[in-house]
Amino acid sequence: MIKKGIILAGGMGTRMSPLTKAVNKQLLPLYDKPLIYYPLSILMLAGIRNILIIVNKGQLPQFKKILPLKNNFGINIQYSEQFKPGGLPEAFIIGKKFIGNDSVSMILGDNFFYGQSLSKALMKGTSLKKGAKIFLHPVRNPNLYGVAKISSKNKVIKLVEKPSKPISNFAITGLYFFDNNVVKFSQKLKPSKRKELEIVDLLNVYRRKNLLKAEFIGRGGAWLDTGNIEDFYNATNFISTIESRQGFKIACIEEISYSKKWIGKKEIKDQIKFYGKCEYSRYLEKIIK
Ligand code: DAU
Repeated sequence: MIKKGIILAGGMGTRMSPLTKAVNKQLLPLYDKPLIYYPLSILMLAGIRNILIIVNKGQLPQFKKILPLKNNFGINIQYSEQFKPGGLPEAFIIGKKFIGNDSVSMILGDNFFYGQSLSKALMKGTSLKKGAKIFLHPVRNPNLYGVAKISSKNKVIKLVEKPSKPISNFAITGLYFFDNNVVKFSQKLKPSKRKELEIVDLLNVYRRKNLLKAEFIGRGGAWLDTGNIEDFYNATNFISTIESRQGFKIACIEEISYSKKWIGKKEIKDQIKFYGKCEYSRYLEKIIK
């Protein structure tokens, strides 16, 4: 079982304007909670309690205010800094010590996942023993993402980052599961033309060894990359619609932790104090009643 996870939460999305890049978007509220809560909740739903959050240099104090090291979430959070955006696989070089001899999952700090089929998919990811696993989702604009071409037997034939001529409409979502070789393979990668280590190059190392598996999140699941401001607000609308209709919150990390019995009522009460009077606190009050 994979028990460690990395959230790559540098603020420098390639599709954000300089104005919005000035603030780390992972700390901006996506509807009623900071964006970072959403990827964090996905790792927690996968049963992962050891989490390394990689942030831009200088942004640690802001993160620690929201997600302190000594937290009430029943998980262990560590932080590392990335000095400049050197590409997604750099996370495994920065996180080498954290990973140690274990397998690891990574989620991009700006990715939003939701849906019934998700828990099943997460379980399939954490049960990975060897190789790597990616999750695919059909999109209308594959030129904006890493894209995978799949054979009729679900074998990954080709991977391309932001193809000018689409090879398929299956985007590679920002949730990955890797065996321990990921550190060694990432260290051997050479930077691309845009001077970054590329996630597709890393995945291609596994693919060439016949060790890359792909799963589909499925039509019952939603995936949004909040990397541009339009999608960020689309995600806000989506969350507000679902939450107000159902009365349940998406990505309430205290609720997830409480339901897994990682925390008790005391920790939730502390969090209510921390948040103060707000709708999120009232929701937490309901949970412990
Ligand atoms: O969202 C899924 C897509 O994410 C995949 O389909 C692509 O294959 C993958 O390359 C990535 O594409 P993006 O264009 O969304 O990558 P972006 O540069 O925007 O980075 C994604 C997030 O990771 C963003 O929140 C910033 C953070 N990041 C990125 C890089 C390159 C870092 O923290 N450090 C980095 O070095």
